[in-house]
Amino acid sequence: MSKTKSPPLMEKIVSLCKRRGFVFQASEIYGGIGNTYDYGPLGVELLRRVKDAWWRDVVTARDDVVGLDSAIIQNPAVWKTSGHVDGFSDPMVDCKTCKARFRADKLEDARCPEKPSKHPGECHGELTEPRSFNLMFKTHVGAMEDSGSVAYLRPETAQGIFLNFANVLSASRLKPPFGIAQIGKSFRNEITPGNFVFRTREFEQAEMEFFVPPAENDRWYEYWKQERFDWYVRLGIDPAKLRMREHEAEELAHYSTGTSDVEYEYPFGWGELEGIACRTDFDLKRHAEASGVRLEYFDPQTKEHYVPYVIEPAGGINRMALTFLIDAYREEELEKETRVVLRFHPSIAPITAAVFPLVKKDGMPERAHEIERDLRLAGMSTFYDEKAAIGRRYRRQDEVGTPFCITVDGDTLSDGVVTVRDRDSMEQERVPAAELSGYLLERVRTWKRA
Ligand code: GLY
Repeated sequence: MSKTKSPPLMEKIVSLCKRRGFVFQASEIYGGIGNTYDYGPLGVELLRRVKDAWWRDVVTARDDVVGLDSAIIQNPAVWKTSGHVDGFSDPMVDCKTCKARFRADKLEDARCPEKPSKHPGECHGELTEPRSFNLMFKTHVGAMEDSGSVAYLRPETAQGIFLNFANVLSASRLKPPFGIAQIGKSFRNEITPGNFVFRTREFEQAEMEFFVPPAENDRWYEYWKQERFDWYVRLGIDPAKLRMREHEAEELAHYSTGTSDVEYEYPFGWGELEGIACRTDFDLKRHAEASGVRLEYFDPQTKEHYVPYVIEPAGGINRMALTFLIDAYREEELEKETRVVLRFHPSIAPITAAVFPLVKKDGMPERAHEIERDLRLAGMSTFYDEKAAIGRRYRRQDEVGTPFCITVDGDTLSDGVVTVRDRDSMEQERVPAAELSGYLLERVRTWKRA
């Protein structure tokens, strides 16, 4: 019998995401809308874990970074001054035959919609000269839809941080080196195909602007490159699939004198996971000039005013979540079946503990519900399941990456001890229910990638 060919990894991930409620196509019942997705019950938990981990390690655990939540729609002058109105664009070409539009610098990644075996321009179609296409979404504020009411959806959260530099400085009494961090939605009118949620038109950005004395720029650039690389490794990403890549001069954004990307080896090739950029004093100086407001630090020791330099680690939460998903995905051959398992770091897993009564009788469901409630009250995300055989229930949790399955059996009712089954080793341990939450939290804290 011929063996059925297995679909490529990305197809399996997309299918798992839909089947188990991580990610759905946006506006699906109307045929969708390009490069846009919705997150289901497990996807939203995964995003939340990634955001919590980022905030915990970039803000809460440090004494030199504070948070901010700035508006999505700012005064349009912000984007003129920041250079985004004139410089935040991709070079695009149009096919004169099929009218499709492509990024001129990414033609090798694009396919002719009519002849998918060919790249644009290699089919019978003729391409126009490249034209610059601004990536910002325009809208109008107020009752009038004229040129005076044009506003933009922010293409990066960073500008909101620069706008509030002086406010935060005086409110927090910080002195450089210090950082201001923000997580929030940004919007870009991306034209190129997105590889599922890798590149989407709206996405959640996690950015931190770290303000430093100019002489300390290089030291902090090296520090944040290392720190952000190590963060992914600490959260369980395979270091063999990560690399740091310095941008070539022609790749640099208009505000940057040096940028390095933490890259991951995706099923579709190496791609940017996060960028760490040197933004120098570019943004603060431009906003100070355009607004007439001084955006400087006064050093009481040297009695000098100076404009700090900025190191910016910036990544997309959605892309981080996709990376955790891809990296965690395994198909493991067991004696009688193939098990699909997401080996997430337990602090990233959408569900921490699933609780099962061994059978649906003899008081086991009631006791299992009590145990599940106790775990919830201890701050854990849980899932209760009493349907199907226990082995099948384990497999369903493996497939969504739940690190611990707790089974309540007949003995639990007499001796108060439950069975904890480990997702990675599939080994089982007996643990007193009274000690369960402390036991699980310790296991989450001390987890190591196998
Ligand atoms: N602020 C950096 C970026 O948006 O990519």
